[in-house]
Amino acid sequence: MKIVVIGGTGLIGSKVVGKLAEHGHEAVAASPNSGVNTLTGEGLAEVLAGAQVVVDVSNSPSFEDDAVMGFFTTSTTNLLAAEKTAGVTHHVALSVVGTDRLPDSGYFRAKVAQENLITQSGLPYSLVHATQFFEFVKSIAAAATDGNTVRLSHALIQPIAAEDVATTVARTAVGAPLGGTLEIAGPKQLGLDELVRTGLELRGDPREVVADPNAPYFGAILSERTLVPGPGATVFSTTFEEWLAEQSEPAK
Ligand SMILES: NC(=O)c1ccc[n+]([C@@H]2O[C@H](COP(=O)([O-])OP(=O)(O)OC[C@H]3O[C@@H](n4cnc5c(N)ncnc54)[C@H](OP(=O)(O)O)[C@@H]3O)[C@@H](O)[C@H]2O)c1
Repeated sequence: MKIVVIGGTGLIGSKVVGKLAEHGHEAVAASPNSGVNTLTGEGLAEVLAGAQVVVDVSNSPSFEDDAVMGFFTTSTTNLLAAEKTAGVTHHVALSVVGTDRLPDSGYFRAKVAQENLITQSGLPYSLVHATQFFEFVKSIAAAATDGNTVRLSHALIQPIAAEDVATTVARTAVGAPLGGTLEIAGPKQLGLDELVRTGLELRGDPREVVADPNAPYFGAILSERTLVPGPGATVFSTTFEEWLAEQSEPAK
């Protein structure tokens, strides 16, 4: 099958392209770096010619409210229109567990808008909702840092390895369209503050993590279960500690 991976040079996208190619598919990584820009439409018709499936694992370069909304609505609209013209029969997109429970966050409002465009497009689709990637913990810490203090909610989180996310996205791409959402998560629920504290400690990072129920998460106040999936989620076994031990970056 010819499968075009929009955002195929990114963290998840590059792994998805590798996994699909290993299974004998013609997996094409498409992104501005390879001359395909979903915001402007540049290169889209050309790369989609002959494709059966499109996987969208792109992300907005800016998380600022208007920029991220503009990114996901414009790029998804352009992409879905080009897929219809090209005769694509399955659109797969990656989103986040709890997206519809975070309306105070500009990022998550944009992800909801992206999902609505897909579900209302008339194209056969599958949505994969993943929890936060282990690889994203550093960015969560950075966004919540003030001086030497990292202020975070004690709400539950159930993070997952990007490798396991990519496995699911690749499997979904070669399967029949779900016409719905699949939830995936890692093996353990813990407090968001606890997760980031563990990550910083294991890396020898001196910042102090303070639990604060009013600390916003990318603009939204979390309830205890906002970020964790429902009972039907597929749960992967890779733990944060195992993943950290495999990273090439030495602990400081
Ligand atoms: N972070 C998390 O914990 C988490 C959890 C669940 C779901 N997700 C979702 O996972 C998805 C992928 O995240 P990621 O971390 O793998 O992203 P990433 O590493 O930041 O990669 C983003 C990709 O998007 C591409 N891109 C940017 N602008 C584009 C444009 N105008 N046209 C086409 N492609 C464009 C980039 O291409 P270039 O390399 O050419 O710039 C890159 O390949 C996101 O949609 C996010 O919402 C994230």
